[in-house]
Amino acid sequence: MPMTIGVPCETFAGEKRVATVPEVVAKLVQLGFGVTVETGAGAGANFGDEDYRAAGAEIAATAAELWARSDVVFKVRTPTPAEASLLRPGATLIGFIWPAQNPELMQQFAARKATVLAIDSLPRQLSRAQKMDALTSMAGVSGYRAVIEAANAFGRLFNGQVTAAGKIPPARVFIAGAGVAGLAAIGTAASLGAIVRANDTRAEVADQVVSLGGEFVKVNYEEEGSGGGGYARVMSEGFQQAQREMYAQQAREVDIIITTALIPGKPAPRLITAEMVRSMKPGSVIVDMAAEQGGNCELTEPGQAVVRHGVTIIGYTDLASRMARQSSTLYANNLLRLTEELCRAKDGVIDVNMEDDAIRGLTVIHNGAITWPPPPPKLPAVAPAAARPAAAPATAPAKKSGHGHGAGEPASAKSLAIVFGVGALLFWLVGAFAPASFLAHFTVFVLACFVGYMVIWNVTPALHTPLMSVTNAISSIIAVGALIQVAPPLGDDIAGRPGALILGLAVLALTLTAVNMFGGFAVTRRMLAMFRK
Ligand code: NAI
Repeated sequence: MPMTIGVPCETFAGEKRVATVPEVVAKLVQLGFGVTVETGAGAGANFGDEDYRAAGAEIAATAAELWARSDVVFKVRTPTPAEASLLRPGATLIGFIWPAQNPELMQQFAARKATVLAIDSLPRQLSRAQKMDALTSMAGVSGYRAVIEAANAFGRLFNGQVTAAGKIPPARVFIAGAGVAGLAAIGTAASLGAIVRANDTRAEVADQVVSLGGEFVKVNYEEEGSGGGGYARVMSEGFQQAQREMYAQQAREVDIIITTALIPGKPAPRLITAEMVRSMKPGSVIVDMAAEQGGNCELTEPGQAVVRHGVTIIGYTDLASRMARQSSTLYANNLLRLTEELCRAKDGVIDVNMEDDAIRGLTVIHNGAITWPPPPPKLPAVAPAAARPAAAPATAPAKKSGHGHGAGEPASAKSLAIVFGVGALLFWLVGAFAPASFLAHFTVFVLACFVGYMVIWNVTPALHTPLMSVTNAISSIIAVGALIQVAPPLGDDIAGRPGALILGLAVLALTLTAVNMFGGFAVTRRMLAMFRK
């Protein structure tokens, strides 16, 4: 029996996002699901009931009707206790849950024998999980919006101009914290023409800051700030002191500060003091994205825009909701990707596979049993490229001795023996019946094939993609062969010189190889340039 996915109105005050959009409804229907949307659910994001209906959804007149009809509910904001009590016993809920902050809600869902998938608990380090990463898509939109809010409150242009009416200097923007939101803000501010600087305790983000058009400002203190998994850790007092001095200097110099610094599970670090705000030029702007976690700036008021010492301090906590159509579309696509993972059979029925690392990480309650926190995800089975050559000698002696170990090996040793046996038989037949001169050439040919195979397939793809490495290895062999033909033989051995045809072919081979190899490098350069700005 196909399941019904229900999308209620978001009840949190001021929330304009909706958990699915008409474009995605059509794809959910293709997966075999029925979709029901509460009337007016998409209004804040400019999607009307008619749009949903045209995409194949049914419209429920009330929240109670919607929750009662749904086998799976898609939500954006964490449900309120009243909403949670509407979930049908045994049904599934997908949305932002924040299980650590909402233990009572977790108990309430468990009591209803629900299955709850918390999109905020996705194991983000798995590359397969990226398509479902709603935290990233929401932070990206919010970082963009933070710059737009700053530009709105700032009384000047972002880009420098020389006009008949006078010279306009470019705005100077400083971004504190270069995580997902920070990097989006850097890219947006740079594309508007501002001079952008950024700082983060994790030194590894410096290259990303530069590639987005920013300048990375270092704290004059040696300490590694990476706490693993792409997140930061709390820094020493010495580092914090040096960081405060650097931030104080930036505050005096820049026009706009956007703060995004956060360590998960900790209150936001206080980076901008009241003193720093006072030192800023009048008309400057601070956007404190961490307002909800206590704020990176001492004077931030969460949810408000206030003016202090002539500086506008914006502490909005709903930046994604302020771009509701865009963020709803991205969020809906994240949930669609998740649904595809849950419904591989495309039969309109979800299967919460607890063996799958990504699904396991997300599932905080499974059929009423609280399964949060999840065990750490298993490491990917693929060994790093550098480890491969070391592994090869370990297996080689086993092959040489001819003794198989374990259950899997005898079969491959047996097939290898058959191949060698057949090869030896063919070789013997050629030796027995072919002329002696042919046999000499044939032996060289077989050995060349063997050596060539080994040379090509044992190249470590250190410089390029594996395909590029293999084709370059083939090109190198051709180049060596052609060079041997082109080079004059030692001494005056006229008879040893190749004929014009062979010389011509060798030169052609050299030319084509050169085109392939240098062309490969040129293509790689161009591809890399596409990611640099
Ligand atoms: P993230 O974890 O990707 O980035 C945070 C960055 O801050 C990390 O790169 C970390 O290394 C850095 N950081 C931590 N401590 C620091 C310190 N003392 N000095 C300098 N850098 C430091 O987080 P993401 O997703 O970029 O979000 C950033 C903030 O924006 C969070 O507070 C998040 O809650 C908030 N946010 C706010 C929204 C709003 O509407 N106001 C919407 C979306 C996100």
